[in-house]
Amino acid sequence: MTTTPRFLAACRREPVDRPPVWLMRQAGRYMAEYRAVREKAGSFMNLCRTPEWCIEVTLQPIRRFGFDAAILFSDILIPAEAMGAEVSFVAGEGPRIGNPVRDEAGVDALRCPEPEEACPFVYETIRGLRSELDAETPLITFVAAPWTLMCYLVEGGGSKHFERTKTLLMGRPDLAKRLLDKIVAYSARHAAAGLRAGAQALQLFDTWAELLAPADYAGWALPAANEVFRRVRAEVGPEPPFIYFSKGSAGQLPVLGAVEADVVSIDWRLDLARARRELGESKALQGNLDPLALLAGPEATRERTRAVLEAGGGRGHIVNLGHGILPQTPLESVDALLETVRGGTP
Ligand code: CP3
Repeated sequence: MTTTPRFLAACRREPVDRPPVWLMRQAGRYMAEYRAVREKAGSFMNLCRTPEWCIEVTLQPIRRFGFDAAILFSDILIPAEAMGAEVSFVAGEGPRIGNPVRDEAGVDALRCPEPEEACPFVYETIRGLRSELDAETPLITFVAAPWTLMCYLVEGGGSKHFERTKTLLMGRPDLAKRLLDKIVAYSARHAAAGLRAGAQALQLFDTWAELLAPADYAGWALPAANEVFRRVRAEVGPEPPFIYFSKGSAGQLPVLGAVEADVVSIDWRLDLARARRELGESKALQGNLDPLALLAGPEATRERTRAVLEAGGGRGHIVNLGHGILPQTPLESVDALLETVRGGTP
């Protein structure tokens, strides 16, 4: 008899023996095995472009911790590169785009290539992973939500206020619209290609949703994310669940229910029980342990994980962090989190 993996069951709000758990950025610098591969690769982009290494680092946290889902090792800026952005990572500074998009010519220059031709290594990684992972461990693929990718493309890197991006949106809405449309088109193709290659769920990362006033979020970011979901759904059919992660979404809660995803992933600043009340029973929830809790040690992690389990209410809840795991996280805290989730449902 085959049973649905608990991660996929929870995405569909079907009953599960216990809530599934995985962690955003679960493959990363907090693991010595990752740091070893990362060093061999030289640069982060070189790591992202090499299927053999991407497969290895995706599997490392599965082997070590047995998470209920694997997430493709890649980056949200890989599709940006396929569109024509010159992407690099500067140590200690994060991503950098050498040719930021700030005018008509910049928008016109962006391409919408065939994903399998532009970044074959991504789909090769996915196919390789499907043959390595067991039937209990579904593979998640991801893209940035259009607004978040727009932030990096326009700003040219990380930023506190993303002033160039927000002033483009407010001062040149015509150009912002054309840019978002192009991002939507390629992101949807990239995501659909990942699902066709064998990934079983899709997560959109809307890290910078928190920068927008509710009206701009409802008018720009949310419709663009929904357009990606719609296009991918039309291409891949009803099966794979869609997850929407937005950081700082408490302010967006009144309109968040309109997101066309099966699962809403929230950060620690929004209470899970409140999100459940306001979003209703139609969506599963993912989150929302503060990644800093793990730095406070195993005991604090256990206590706060118990609170997350309780607020999540069991059914239709996927345990995760509110944002990516930090490089300085002790492995014992990850063990403590997992023991708590596996030890007993609320
Ligand atoms: O979750 C996973 O395990 C899958 C892999 C994954 C990475 N990045 C690997 C990575 C995913 C899903 C991402 C998404 C991503 N990338 C986001 C959205 C989620 C978020 O964290 O808000 C964003 C904004 C990026 C862009 C990006 N890539 C940033 C801001 C950084 C941090 C730079 C730094 O020095 O910490 C990266 C680099 C990156 N992406 C690393 C990893 C493991 C660390 C780079 C390294 O190993 O040197």
